[in-house]
Amino acid sequence: MSDLRDDAAAGFRNLTGREPDGLWSAPGRVNLIGEHTDYNDGFVFPFAIDRRTVVALGRREDRRIRVATAFSDDVVEIGLDELEAARSSGWAAYPLGMAWVFGLGPFEGVTEAVGVEGVSGFDAFIDSNVPVGAGLSSSAALECAIGVALNEVWELGLTPEAIARAGQRAENEFVGAPTGIMDQSASMLGREDSGVFLDCRSLDAEVIPLRFAEAGLAILVIDSRVEHEHSSGGYRERRESCERGARELGVESLRELSLADLARARELLDDLTVRRVRHVVTENQRVLDTVRTLHERGPRAIGDLLDASHRSMRDDFEISVPELDLIVETAQANGAVGARMTGGGFGGSAIALVPEEAVSLVQVAIDGAFAEHGYTAPVSFVVRPSDGAGRA
Ligand code: GLA
Repeated sequence: MSDLRDDAAAGFRNLTGREPDGLWSAPGRVNLIGEHTDYNDGFVFPFAIDRRTVVALGRREDRRIRVATAFSDDVVEIGLDELEAARSSGWAAYPLGMAWVFGLGPFEGVTEAVGVEGVSGFDAFIDSNVPVGAGLSSSAALECAIGVALNEVWELGLTPEAIARAGQRAENEFVGAPTGIMDQSASMLGREDSGVFLDCRSLDAEVIPLRFAEAGLAILVIDSRVEHEHSSGGYRERRESCERGARELGVESLRELSLADLARARELLDDLTVRRVRHVVTENQRVLDTVRTLHERGPRAIGDLLDASHRSMRDDFEISVPELDLIVETAQANGAVGARMTGGGFGGSAIALVPEEAVSLVQVAIDGAFAEHGYTAPVSFVVRPSDGAGRA
């Protein structure tokens, strides 16, 4: 982190010739369990990871915005009143989207005073060690880092929950990806050694100790190197299936269904929609079971739930890819307590909950299995549940 901070501050000085007003940061996330449940008003249980995006930001005298990053040569410059023009424009859409959302004034879930009349523009330099395209929410990390920075320098007085909502709105309306509230919530609300158990209907969040290290367990992230994106294709299509299922079953969202309703779903819906609905309903139940099991029996007991979640995504929701299935099977065969793909799917990463002493064995086994199949070598690393966004 201190390197990232130094680099962001140095980048800012290079860009502007002055010192930043401050440094802020926000983490990427891993979802422990609860996939494609957030936009169905269901339950999720992610945690923030020890990979962060740092932003060095300073106010300007005029109403211009200038943003630059360590990972691109582009410097993007635009007026605060011209932001519309920057919709869907690569990495810059995330930071500029946040400024745009704050300019809209109060919105659903955000009743606090927002609005940017009279505020000054800003310069920002961004650095990050959250891998991009790995399904670890580098986009939410960027939105939330800028969000906490602007909240402070523009004196918006927003709560962490409201900044999460703003991030989701920027992603939905400015970037154009129809994603839910999970990633930004994890990035804002995460706590060291804990997960964020979120009810996506009420938006009630509970920070729950995970105690992996105390139990001698590590969370290994394995990036399949299959790149994914959520603004088109499978993610959007799955979301539409869920909305259709809810409509045809006469409920506001799939959250309202329980396991007992699945028989009715089988009578009324086509086969494919039944499977999509079944994933969401059973996954909501698995989130609740995971929270309860952690509490009653500790983290070693949640492995079967992680494994079952993966099977449901592979067979019912059909968002896995062969590389992710291979990671999960190989981790399970080499001593993992449980394993599943994490995030939106169609690529990205899997996680394995592994006894500390077995971490390298699992890594070597996965590398070997990938080589045997002729797949691009995966990248794997241990992550620790960490604190959410704030001053860096
Ligand atoms: C992506 C989205 C989240 C969520 C997950 C799937 O990460 O950004 O809102 O829908 O996929 O659980």
